[in-house]
Amino acid sequence: MDAVDITLGTPALEVENLTVLRSGKIILKDIDFKINKGEFVALVGPNGSGKSTLMLSVLGVLKAQEGSIKIYGSRPMSRKLNGKIGWVSQAAANLPKEIKITVRELVSLGVVNATNLFSLNIKDRNNDIGNAIKMVGLEEEQHTDISRLSGGQRQRAVIARALASNAEFIMLDEPLVGIDRDARNSLLKLLDILCHKENKTILMVSHDLTAMRQTAHRIIYLEEGIRYDGISEDFPDFSTLAGLRGIEHVHDHDLLKTVQKGEED
Ligand SMILES: Nc1ncnc2c1ncn2[C@@H]1O[C@H](COP(=O)(O)OP(=O)(O)OP(=O)(O)O)[C@@H](O)[C@H]1O
Ligand SMILES: [Mg+2]
Repeated sequence: MDAVDITLGTPALEVENLTVLRSGKIILKDIDFKINKGEFVALVGPNGSGKSTLMLSVLGVLKAQEGSIKIYGSRPMSRKLNGKIGWVSQAAANLPKEIKITVRELVSLGVVNATNLFSLNIKDRNNDIGNAIKMVGLEEEQHTDISRLSGGQRQRAVIARALASNAEFIMLDEPLVGIDRDARNSLLKLLDILCHKENKTILMVSHDLTAMRQTAHRIIYLEEGIRYDGISEDFPDFSTLAGLRGIEHVHDHDLLKTVQKGEED
């Protein structure tokens, strides 16, 4: 395993010896990894392997049974982290049709947090909203109702909401699902720019191994523990991966489908 040199940068996220239970069942066990500032990390693995559970634990929504999580040195949900973390949940862009809200209104929800609710001035707030909309390239659509956007544009709008708070650390759960190839490519380009030009740190869950190999700096493969953590170019092909997992017959079919799907898209 080719671990990325984590001694060089400042850690944005440190997960140590993490065990998480859901409804009494162990979902994550002894998970250890660090993400440095400015890294773009893809979290991959078969359905049910605990990717969303890991994200929710980092956010502090799920509690660790054992081990610890630190984000910029603070525990999840700590007040010090207010506004520092942007979160785009799985299926976040599937907003209910009956909600009538424009792009700008949706993005403006991202600037409000517990610490700035009464203090942020309107000018700063408008600047942050405008910048976020600009970053995702939706200036022309800012007064358009969300329901009239394409899937890719909606996905950009929810990312802009996460950016509006000036979040440094952006976590996305399957943001590429349901969008076409062009939208996917431009979204990946946007994430890459956020990483390189805005120095954001990105942790993204995706089933699209091909896209992740091309875009992320590093891939973490989760299945009953971390099976691979290293640079994207060295991420093993399917047969090596099956060997790494050591349980070839169990979920191979699903994973193969996932890999093929990613390569077809
Ligand atoms: N609320 C819950 N209570 C109990 N078990 C749960 C709960 N939510 C999820 N699980 C279980 O936890 C495991 C991991 O689920 P999780 O949603 O984290 O997987 P995932 O890797 O994100 O999957 P997917 O790729 O399908 O999104 C699964 O076995 C799932 O059934
Ligand atoms: Mg999930």
